[in-house]
Amino acid sequence: MPTEFAVRIATAADAPAVSRLLAVSYPVLLRAAYDGATLAAALPLMTRANPTLLSTRTYYVAERDGGPIVGCGGWTRERPGSGEMVPGLAHIRHFASHPDWAGRGVGRAIYASGEDAARLAGVRRFECYASLNAENFYGALGFRSVRRIEVPMGPALRFPSILMVRSI
Ligand SMILES: CC(C)(COP(=O)(O)OP(=O)(O)OC[C@H]1O[C@@H](n2cnc3c(N)ncnc32)[C@H](O)[C@@H]1OP(=O)(O)O)[C@@H](O)C(=O)NCCC(=O)NCCS
Repeated sequence: MPTEFAVRIATAADAPAVSRLLAVSYPVLLRAAYDGATLAAALPLMTRANPTLLSTRTYYVAERDGGPIVGCGGWTRERPGSGEMVPGLAHIRHFASHPDWAGRGVGRAIYASGEDAARLAGVRRFECYASLNAENFYGALGFRSVRRIEVPMGPALRFPSILMVRSI
């Protein structure tokens, strides 16, 4: 199994590859924490690359040398859903690793790139709407769980998640 990958800033041209990665990652890695009905409703909405996010230059991909994208994730000043901005605060967005690469440091490497850039940009605090399966991942990165929340997704779905925070 290969172990080498590099993290770079994503561009709009990565949209098809990021969508492919989300479509491979989420159904497998969310299965441990969500029932089938919730996933059936949420996955079509969650597994599309967000073009706005891809153009922020604070969203990243991890890729093998000349090969496929094996991870993605980043942050924005805008709060997901409302677009609200609070000075010093940023929001963790749309992290995923390929299931074959889970547990190999891809997510941590993407987070580290984002955290360095965020600190330089004056961010002092991250918030994250973590999927239930990802609580231990964000915990390993130094995030603290605040409370269970339900993230509105589409007109009818409230996706069970955890609000997590950390200072940077
Ligand atoms: C959450 C996710 C992005 C983690 O990515 P990853 O590449 O597997 O994470 P890493 O290998 O970099 O792990 C970083 C740390 O988190 C820990 N970790 C990761 N997943 C974990 C899990 N499910 N349970 C416990 N610890 C976990 C690792 O042990 C590692 O700790 P260490 O560096 O101290 O040894 C990946 O599991 C995923 O794509 N999940 C599905 C999508 C998702 O839930 N995204 C988050 C949306 S909010």
